[in-house]
Amino acid sequence: MGGTFTAAPALALVLLVALSVAATANVGESCSTAADCGGGQWCFDCQPEFAGSSCVRSAATNPFQLTNNSLPFNKYAYLTTHNSFAIVGEPSHTGVPRITFDNQEDTVTDQLNNGVRALMLDTYDFKGDVWLCHSNGGKCNDFTAFEPALDTFKEIEAFLGANPSEIVTLILEDYVHAPNGLTNVFKASGLMKYWFPVSKMPQKGKDWPLVSDMVASNQRLLVFTSIRSKQATEGIAYQWNYMVENNYGDDGMDAGKCSNRAESAPLNDKTKSLVLVNYFPSVPVKVTACLQHSKSLTDMVNTCYGAAGNRWANFLAVDYYKRSDGGGAFQATDLLNGRLLCGCQDVKACSRGSGVICSS
Ligand SMILES: *[C@@H]1O[C@H](CO)[C@@H](O)[C@H](O)[C@H]1NC(C)=O
Repeated sequence: MGGTFTAAPALALVLLVALSVAATANVGESCSTAADCGGGQWCFDCQPEFAGSSCVRSAATNPFQLTNNSLPFNKYAYLTTHNSFAIVGEPSHTGVPRITFDNQEDTVTDQLNNGVRALMLDTYDFKGDVWLCHSNGGKCNDFTAFEPALDTFKEIEAFLGANPSEIVTLILEDYVHAPNGLTNVFKASGLMKYWFPVSKMPQKGKDWPLVSDMVASNQRLLVFTSIRSKQATEGIAYQWNYMVENNYGDDGMDAGKCSNRAESAPLNDKTKSLVLVNYFPSVPVKVTACLQHSKSLTDMVNTCYGAAGNRWANFLAVDYYKRSDGGGAFQATDLLNGRLLCGCQDVKACSRGSGVICSS
C-alpha cells in the first residue's frame, strides 16, 4: 500500500512535466493559440512572409531586474508605443461611430504590463475636458475621439501603484490650451504623487538622476509636452529642451537615413540627453508592421546611433508593437539596452555581471 501512495503522485508529476513541456513552444515554433507558447509570447501569423502562426515575443526584458537600476535614467532604453491610446476596438465614447485609424491593439494597461515604458499620447481640449484624439488642425471631433485622458491616466496610475520600481514616460503631442487643463486631469487621476519635477531634469546634456533614486523618491512619472510655455506655467517639461527625435512617419523609415524632425534639435546635439527613434509609417498598416519590426527596425536603430553622434536611443516608438516574426521591437529594445548597459548585442548578455563577454 505504501508503495502505491508514493508512486501515484510521482507518476502524476512526471505526466504533468511531460505535458507542460509539450505545451510550451519557443519563439519561432508553430502554434495555434498563445497557450501553446511560452511566457511573454503570443501566437501570431506574420503574413505575407510566413505561412501559419508561430510563437513570437509579446513582452519586454526588464533591464532593471535583469541587471540593476543604479544607472542614470538615460542609460536605459524604453519600448514606446506611438499613439498608445488609438486602440483597435476601443468603443465610441462620444456616441458617434469613430472614423479614424488605429495604432495599437491592446489596452494601455496591457501595454504597460508587457513592458512598454513610454506612451505617446495626443491630448486635445474636447467637451470641456481633455481627450485623447486623432485630428487635424488641433481640433478633436466626435468621430476621431478615443477617450477622456482621465481614463488612460487612471490606468497609468494603477500601474505605477502596483509596480513601485517602474518608471513611465508620457510624451504628449499637446493641443490642450485650456489653462491648467492637463494639470487638472493629472490631479484628478492621482498621478501627481509620482510626478518627476522639471527642476530635477538635467540641462546641457548632463546625465539624468539614477533610476534607483527616482524610485526611492517615488518620482516615477516623466511628462513631456510639445507646448513650450507649459514648462513655466504648469511645470510640464517642454520635450525639445531634453530630447532629440528623428523624423516620424514615412520620412523616418527611409533606410540608411536618420535625421531630426523639425521640432527637434539635430540628433547629434548632445545638450539633450535623451534620444528617441520613431519607426512607423505615416498611415498605420497592420500587415506591413510585422515585416518592418522584424528586420528594418534594427537597421534603423543602428543608423540612428550614428546620426545621434554615437548615442543609442533611449526610446523606440512603434505602432502595433507586438507584431513581428520573432523578437521584433522587443529584441530591438534588448539590443539598445545591451549596447547601453554592457556594450553587447543583447541585454541578456549583460546579466553575467562584471567581465561581460558578449556572445555575439
Ligand atoms: C549595474 O549594471 C551595469 C550594467 O550591467 C553595470 O555596469 C554596473 O556595474 C552595475 N552596478 C551595480 C551596482 O551592480
